[in-house]
This record gives sequence, C-alpha cells and structure tokens, in this order.
Amino acid sequence: MKILVTGGLGFIGSHTVVELQSEGFEVVVVDNLSNSSKDVLKGIEAITGKQPLFEEFDLRDKPKVQEFFNSYDDIAGVIHFAASKAVGESVEKPLLYYENNIGVLTYILQELEKKGGASFIFSSSCTVYGQADSLPITEDAPVKPAESPYGNTKQVGEEIIRDTCKVNSDLKAIALRYFNPIGAHPSAKIGELPLGVPQNLVPFVTQTAIGLREQLLVFGNDYPTEDGTGIRDYIHVVDLAKAHVKALQRLLEDKNDSNYEVFNLGTGKGSSVLEVIQSFERVSGEKLNYKIVDRRAGDVIAAYADTQKANEVLGWKAKSTLDEALKSAWDWEKTVRA
Ligand code: NAD
Ligand code: WQD
Repeated sequence: MKILVTGGLGFIGSHTVVELQSEGFEVVVVDNLSNSSKDVLKGIEAITGKQPLFEEFDLRDKPKVQEFFNSYDDIAGVIHFAASKAVGESVEKPLLYYENNIGVLTYILQELEKKGGASFIFSSSCTVYGQADSLPITEDAPVKPAESPYGNTKQVGEEIIRDTCKVNSDLKAIALRYFNPIGAHPSAKIGELPLGVPQNLVPFVTQTAIGLREQLLVFGNDYPTEDGTGIRDYIHVVDLAKAHVKALQRLLEDKNDSNYEVFNLGTGKGSSVLEVIQSFERVSGEKLNYKIVDRRAGDVIAAYADTQKANEVLGWKAKSTLDEALKSAWDWEKTVRA
C-alpha cells in the first residue's frame, strides 16, 4: 500500500518513514530539502534496507501538487509533516508560515477531495493548548489563543481539516498533537539536524556538550514548579513515529469512530529543564556548561499529556525513558560531528 509522506526527510518524517517501511508500507516522500538533506535517504536505507521513492519539489507549487496526485493515483494515505516550524521566525515572517503551513495543507486536501476518499494524518502540536488550566492535558482541554503565527497555523490547520471532514464523509483524518519530540534512531543513522542555532532545549544541550555552543542558557528558575524551571513532556521520536503507523492503520482499517479525530502524543510524564540536564549528564558522562537566565517570552510553565486516549484507542504507548531518549540524541550528535 502506497503512503505519501510530505516532509519525509525531516526529523519526525524520516523516523516515521523507517517505521512505515518496517511495517511493509511502500512510501513516497515529497520534500523540498528546505530543512533536510538528501543524505537522509541513505540513512533510511541503512536502517530498513530500502529507500523510499523520492520526489523533490516545493509543495507551495500548486500545479506540481496536482501533477503529483495525477501521476500517483494509488496513494492510499497521506502523512503531512511538511511545514515551517521555528516559532521565532514565524513572528518575523508570518506570511511564509501561513503560506507553507496553511496554503500547502489546503492544496493537499483539495487533491484528496478529488480522489474521493483517503486517509490523512496531520502534525499538530501541544502548542494549541497554551498554558493549560489543568495537568495532565486531555484532548478536550480548550485551545488557547496562539502565542505565535506558527502556533496559529496548527490551530487553524486543525480547523481546516475538521471543517473539510464535516462536508466530506469520504475523507478520514487524524490530527496528532505532539508534545516535545526528542532523540534519534538508536542506530544513529538518522536524527535531528537543526539549521543554525537550535531553539529547542535538547539539540542545544547536545551541541553545547560537543563544543559547538559555549553555554546552555536555562530560561528561568522562578516558575511555580518544584525546581523552578519549566516542565515539558519529552517524547522519544521513535515512539512518536510508531504512533503514526497506528493512527494510519486505524484509518485504513476503518476503525475510526468519526472521520476527524485528535490524539495527544506524549509520555504522560513532565520533566523540568534541570531534570533534562541531570539526565543528559548521567547518560553522556559529560558535564554541561549552563547558567540560569531570565524567562523566555512566550514560554508556558508546564505542559504534559494525558495519553489515555492514544493508549486505549490507538493501542499505543510511549516506551522510552528520558534517559534513553537523551542517550540516543547524544549518540546521534557524536556521529554527526565525527
Ligand atoms: P523538520 O523541519 O525536520 O521537517 C519538515 C520537513 O518538511 C523538512 O524536511 C523540510 O525540508 C520539508 N518541507 C518544509 N516545507 C516544505 C515544502 N513547502 N515543500 C516540501 N517540503 C517541505 O520538522 P519536524 O520537527 O520533523 O516536524 C514535522 C512536523 O511536525 C511539522 O509540521 C511541525 O510543525 C510538527 N511539529 C514538530 C514538533 C517538534 O518539536 N519538532 C512539535 C510539534 C509539531
Ligand atoms: C523546552 C524547555 C524552555 C531552550 C517549542 C515550540 C512548540 C513545539 C515544541 C512545535 C522550556 C527551556 C529551551 C534553551 C531552555 N514545537 N529551554 N534553554 O518551548 O516546549 O516548545 O517546541 O510545535 O511550538 O514552542 O520547547 O525545546 O524550546 O523548550 O531553558 O536554550 O526548555 O524554556 O522550558 P517548547 P523547547
């Protein structure tokens, strides 16, 4: 069965391609390499023994998207990762984010409408919850006004899919709200490759430990948490990738309860920034150079998932510990810089 994975050479996409191929799916990747490289294809092949089909083009090119669906008329499902994801950049360049994250989404949905029936999985984010009123966060917690154009593209993206599903009963979709994906494949053949200075905690930690960055800045230790630092739900990217296969199978096997569903993907456990640092030091044997500075604007205090719905309905549970995820991130960093 042929599955289109947009953004399939990126961080989460590449790990998902591996899991899909391991489960016997035939994968076609579309990627414009704006935040990835063709070498990822070799990494995927080294793990699975097979390269996915690869089409290099920009999904903002609507005629190309139409052409693609005309020539691949046997696509049974789409997992849509391709998007721009830097929160700060989205504040500077909102139209780039609206075009890439919203425009492209509508082009793909238009093609799926024409096909008359397809399965669609969307990469959403826990960012839609903002600072939730209670923890852990369930899927029915209210969506809060977005802090950034990036966050807004995930909220509006979900609404676009929901509205489209309402009037197209043939279209089946699942939005997956990721908490904080970290780590790399245990083989260290694929992983996260941030362009420029990483904005996210874990790549900044590994790049500091390897000597690429001078010092990690810990953004605030005066939050109302046990040690004063922010709390997040860090999920191993391989666990996250496996959840996509479960969600896809649910749609392909017509097991979905309605034609638009939403699931949280996290571990259910919150970890503070200082706990991440301690865990990293433990598994790497490295001492991390860090200092506490002021809070970062826009950060929430704490966010971690209630994963019961994904556990019970998708039959999926995150297995890796924070130590395992950080060890894999460190192994990947060492391999990339070797
Ligand atoms: P990534 O940047 O590593 O991967 C995205 C891939 O899409 C890249 O390979 C990029 O080259 C490609 N791409 C972007 N725009 C494209 C276009 N117009 N045409 C073709 N290809 C295009 O990002 P990721 O971390 O793997 O994230 C994947 C998805 O998950 C995104 O939608 C992101 O918003 C979402 N998400 C990520 C996180 C996270 O922390 N990484 C958290 C929540 C949600
Ligand atoms: C985690 C914790 C920081 C960097 C972002 C996006 C969100 C989602 C996931 C896509 C926080 C602290 C970080 C650093 C630090 N992406 N930190 N020093 O903020 O949960 O979410 O990525 O949808 O939309 O906003 O993740 O990794 O940036 O931060 O102290 O150099 O680490 O304050 O407590 P975040 P993060």
